[in-house]
Amino acid sequence: MAGFIHRPLPAAGALALLKIEGVSKSYQMGEVRVDALKHVTLSFSSGELAVLLGASGSGKSTLLNIIGGLDSVTEGKLYFRDRDLSEAGDAELTAYRRHSIGFVFQFFNLIPSLTALENVELVTDIAREPMPASDALQLVGLEGRLHHFPAQLSGGEQQRVAIARAVAKQPELLLCDEPTGALDFQTGKLVLDVIRKVNDELGTTVLLITHNASIAGIGDRVVRMRSGEVWEDFRNESRRPPSELEW
Ligand SMILES: Nc1ncnc2c1ncn2[C@@H]1O[C@H](COP(=O)(O)OP(=O)(O)O)[C@@H](O)[C@H]1O
Ligand SMILES: [Mg+2]
Repeated sequence: MAGFIHRPLPAAGALALLKIEGVSKSYQMGEVRVDALKHVTLSFSSGELAVLLGASGSGKSTLLNIIGGLDSVTEGKLYFRDRDLSEAGDAELTAYRRHSIGFVFQFFNLIPSLTALENVELVTDIAREPMPASDALQLVGLEGRLHHFPAQLSGGEQQRVAIARAVAKQPELLLCDEPTGALDFQTGKLVLDVIRKVNDELGTTVLLITHNASIAGIGDRVVRMRSGEVWEDFRNESRRPPSELEW
C-alpha cells in the first residue's frame, strides 16, 4: 500500500509511553461521592495493544477519558512521555488530544452530511503530519467507499471510517471505548481486525476497552478492572487473531 508513513515498532523493553501513578477519580453527585477510580497505577509501553477488561461501572471509561485528556484526575499523576498531564492547562491538553490521541467510541459519531472521505479529511486538515485521508480509508479496507455517506454504509463500515479518522492524523495512542459495542459478532470481528492491523502495521499503541472477556484474546496484555481498581494485569501468551474469537 503506497503512501503510508510507517512508524517502526519499538524494540522490546521499550520506554513507557504512558505512566499512571496513584490516580483516583471521584465524582460528587449531591450528597453521594462516587469513587470511579481508586489509586490506579499502570504503565503502557510504546507499541503495545492492551485490553482494559471489566464489568460495567468498573471505571474503564473514566480511566480512558483521563488518559485521553478528556477528564482530569482527583488525585495522582499522569505522564505522557515526560509530560505531566495532571498539571497541564487547557491549551496543552487540547494540543495533546489533537496531535497525540485518536479516539474511537461505541457510536461512530460521523457527520451525516459528509462522505467517508470528507469525514476523515476534517481531521487531516488540522493535523500536523497526517497520512492522506484516502490512505487511511484504504488501511481499513474502505477504498471502495470513499464517496459514500454514513447512511449508505453498514454499522461496521461506519466504525471503520471512524477508525480511519482516528488514525489518519498518526496519533501515538489510539483509545477505543467499546468499539464493537454496537455491532453484531461477525461485524465486530472485522472491526477488531482493523484495530489489530493499525497496531501491527503502523505501530500505534492501542488501549481498547471491553466488558467482553473473549475480546480480550486479541490483546498483547490484559488489564482487568473491578470497582475502580486494577484487579489483574497480565501478558496474554495466547494472543489470537480476531477471526478466531468466539463470543
Ligand atoms: N461524569 C460522571 N459523573 C458521575 N459519576 C460518573 C461519571 N462518569 C462515571 N461515573 C461513575 O463512575 C463509575 C465508573 O464509571 P465508568 O468509568 O463509566 O465505568 P465503565 O466504563 O467501566 O462502565 C460508575 O459508578 C459511574 O456511574
Ligand atoms: Mg464505559
